[in-house]
Amino acid sequence: MKPGPIGVFDSGYGGLTIFKEIVKQLPQYDYLYLGDNARNPYGIRSYETVYHYTLECVTHLFGMGCRLVILACNTASAKALRTIQERDLPYIQPECRVLGVIRPTTEIVGKITRSGKVGILATAGTVGSRSYPIEIKKFFPEVQVFQEACPMWVPLVESNEHDSPGADYFIKKSIGRLLDQSAEIDTIVLGCTHYPLLLHKIQQFLPPHITVLSQGEIIASRLVDYLQRHTEIEAVCSKNGQCAFYTTEYPEDFDVKAGVFFGQTVQSKHLAL
Ligand code: DGL
Repeated sequence: MKPGPIGVFDSGYGGLTIFKEIVKQLPQYDYLYLGDNARNPYGIRSYETVYHYTLECVTHLFGMGCRLVILACNTASAKALRTIQERDLPYIQPECRVLGVIRPTTEIVGKITRSGKVGILATAGTVGSRSYPIEIKKFFPEVQVFQEACPMWVPLVESNEHDSPGADYFIKKSIGRLLDQSAEIDTIVLGCTHYPLLLHKIQQFLPPHITVLSQGEIIASRLVDYLQRHTEIEAVCSKNGQCAFYTTEYPEDFDVKAGVFFGQTVQSKHLAL
């Protein structure tokens, strides 16, 4: 196989919070980021729709030369990853790989909590899939998991309202509903890649003893480990330190916002699906 870039996929801007950390830890590789801004949010959609959209984007990334694709989206990881890995990949690209963001996060969460009570804030789709409680139970059967869906948070981020005073109402409301489920929660996972953009506001409404986990650094360091263990995949990841960005919406709009989240100027191209 000819070497190609590592694909990083999200429904929109959120995956940039993961991508930024991946590039920090693994700057030598080439990357292709794809945001499906035209069809997000994914978090409110059915299994079939999320699966269909995700498979379409992953297939495009393979068509553009990617050999490894990271679903930098919890909703897609919860609703589409397993089917793509088990059912589609053997037919469409048997030598390529698709990885998600939920499992690497659940592998460490039980090492951080002291009370054994963990909260998950995520989209309705991720919460409804119960992927977090199921995966956490495999690694840490004694840990109790409480979940709260935050349906307004992704629209706040996508419409650039995440820093506005209006955002406070929805952030406070969802956090209150999570903490009402157990006063002993001491660790909260931001189980949606859009949520780190709300982190400073989230922390304003949380007692200081609660640890908030964002996924960027966790996913990036797990990817470092994965590439060390899977040398056959590492060998087909090209290494020129280049990043390319694609969006299914207007590139001009994407670039303005993506640059802020990514911390560097972004020049995207339109991808027609
Ligand atoms: N960023 C995605 C996630 O991690 C979902 C956002 C959406 O609802 O589109 O779940």
